[in-house]
Amino acid sequence: MLKEKIEEIRAQAEAAFKAAPSAKDLYDAKVQFLGKQGSFSSIMKEMGKLSAEEKPAFGKLVNEVKQALEAVYADRETALKGQELASQLQAEALDLSLPSATAAPGARHPVALVIEEISGILSRLGYSIRTGPLIESDRYNFEGLNFPPDHPARDMQDTFYIDKEHVLRTHTSPIQIRTMELERPPLRVVGVGPVFRADSDISHSPNFHQIEGLCVDRRVSMADLKGTISFFVREYFGKDLKTRFRPSFFPFTEPSAEVDCQCPICSGKGVIGSQDCRMCKASGWIEIGGSGLVHPNVLKLAGVQYPEWQGFAFGFGIERMAIIKYGIDDIRLFNENDVRFLRQFSL
Ligand code: PHE
Repeated sequence: MLKEKIEEIRAQAEAAFKAAPSAKDLYDAKVQFLGKQGSFSSIMKEMGKLSAEEKPAFGKLVNEVKQALEAVYADRETALKGQELASQLQAEALDLSLPSATAAPGARHPVALVIEEISGILSRLGYSIRTGPLIESDRYNFEGLNFPPDHPARDMQDTFYIDKEHVLRTHTSPIQIRTMELERPPLRVVGVGPVFRADSDISHSPNFHQIEGLCVDRRVSMADLKGTISFFVREYFGKDLKTRFRPSFFPFTEPSAEVDCQCPICSGKGVIGSQDCRMCKASGWIEIGGSGLVHPNVLKLAGVQYPEWQGFAFGFGIERMAIIKYGIDDIRLFNENDVRFLRQFSL
């Protein structure tokens, strides 16, 4: 009787184990048949009814069946684990042939690159960088640069006034004054940074950058200025372009000159193939900045002994230098932070 019951439980358990669809179902089946409260345990309780002779054989049978079921269980468990692993691997499969998510490294801003490049060229002539405040006093932005009060030359520089005494600096020339006040000649310095003017269109931005050179030494002439600028132009544009001076006026230089160089886009020819060069408007020349010999008043106001010490200075707009070199057609691009524009300049 008991023996048949055991065989019956064995058959049921075997069937349940083999058919268990998941590890959880299998475990539940194990609890149902082999657990403490399971069918097998209740059978064991009936063992007491057996006679002493019957017990050993019955015990043996129970052990065999248990072992056999454990084995079926173990087989099924291994099979299920394999299946689960396989489907998990499939679900989480990595397609190693997909392109990886691209890292998006930043790029240097063209203004930063041009500053680095220009100051690098000038450093080979012995120049080193100086900076100054963006909010300047009237004294450094104008007065010390020989702009008399109410002089019309102040109108050349559409000034943003903070108050009567302070402006957003309209050029980097105040750095010249600050340097001459603090340092003893001979001097070779580059003033660089943002400047501000109330002016905005396709070629003017209210905030832009300038870089300027100041040399103060014992015998300084226009020839030194021209030699320096010619060297600079050849190095910066990487071409043997000619440089020319046109007479001009700045209160802080005398004589003063606008600096032109042959257009780097058309190499001074004025045409590209059969097309007029748009950068230089077919003239073959392009204006790059202002320059001159430092006005004696400027030297004296800054405490430099003139004529023992003399100087020359030259200044460029940085965006303009980038525009000319790279053929950019709108100055506003520099401030729009469009990465498609900015990325083109990273080295
Ligand atoms: N500071 C002048 C300007 O912004 C440029 C300049 C610099 C001219 C140095 C002469 C010498 O217009």
